[in-house]
Amino acid sequence: MSEPPNHVVELREVQLAFPQKTVLDGVSLKVEPLDRLVIMGQSGSGKSTILRLILGILQPTSGEIFFKQFEITRLKRRKLQQVRMQIGMVYQYSALLSSRNVHDNIALPLEELTKKGTAEIDRIVDEKLELVGMSDSKNQMPSELSGGMRKRVSLARALVMDPELILFDEPSAGLDPVISSVIDELIISLSERSQVTSVIVTHEMESAFRVGTRMAMLYQGKIIEDAPPEEFKKSNDPVVRQFLSGSTEGPILEGSKDAVATK
Ligand SMILES: Nc1ncnc2c1ncn2[C@@H]1O[C@H](COP(=O)(O)OP(=O)(O)O)[C@@H](O)[C@H]1O
Ligand SMILES: [Mg+2]
Repeated sequence: MSEPPNHVVELREVQLAFPQKTVLDGVSLKVEPLDRLVIMGQSGSGKSTILRLILGILQPTSGEIFFKQFEITRLKRRKLQQVRMQIGMVYQYSALLSSRNVHDNIALPLEELTKKGTAEIDRIVDEKLELVGMSDSKNQMPSELSGGMRKRVSLARALVMDPELILFDEPSAGLDPVISSVIDELIISLSERSQVTSVIVTHEMESAFRVGTRMAMLYQGKIIEDAPPEEFKKSNDPVVRQFLSGSTEGPILEGSKDAVATK
C-alpha cells in the first residue's frame, strides 16, 4: 500500500467508468489545508461525481482517494460514517427538508450523529445561523425562503459538525448574479473564520475566480490544468482558453457531445 498523503484531500489516478461511459479517466488532485480548490468543467464532465467519490458515496473503478490519513475507498461502513462527519456538504439546490423549519433542518445532523442535548444543539444552531446571517429566520419553513436564503441555511447546516472540509456543488446555481456574489463572499469569510478547507465545483467562471485560491479544470475525464488563479488565467491550453473566453470557437464543441447538448 502506498504512503498516506499530507493533504486534506488527495485523489490519485482515479478512474470511474459507468457501463456507458468513462467519466473520470485518471484524475489526480491534491487539496492543501485552507485551500479553496475550485474544480471547473462543463455540465456532465464529472464534477459532482468527484464530490461523491470524496464522500465515499461512490466507489472509483480504480485509483485511490484520501481524506487526511484515511483512504476513503478502504474504510468499513462504520468508520466511513465517522470520517464523513468531518466533511460538510452544500448541495446544488440546498436540499433542505421541506417539512422542517430552518432550526430543525440545521439541528438534524446533531440530533442524528451526536449525543448532544437540546440546549447545546440550540446553542450551536443559533451560532451557525448567526454566522450566515439567518438568525431571524430560524422558525421559518424552507418554502418561505428565497434561493439565496436557502443556500445560507444549507451553509449553516454544512458547518454544524465543525467540519475540516466543506464540499460545495455549484453554490451559485439558480441564484441571480448579485446573490451569487454575496454567497461567494460568504463562502470566503466562513472558510477563513472557521479555518476550513473547501472544494467548490462550478461551471461559472466569475464565481470560480472570486472564491478560488486554486483552480483545476476537468475535461474529458482528466484534470487538464491545475494552478493558482493568476497562473490559470494565463494557461495556454486551448480548452482552458475557450472556457475562459466563453467562445464557441475551439476544441470544446468539436471534441465533446456533452458540450453540444448543454451549452
Ligand atoms: N450513477 C450513474 N450511472 C451512470 N452514469 C452516471 C451516473 N452518475 C453520473 N453519471 C454520468 O456521469 C457524467 C458526469 O456526471 P456529473 O458528475 O453529475 O457531472 P457534472 O456535475 O460535471 O455536471 C454524466 O454524463 C452523467 O450522466
Ligand atoms: Mg453536477
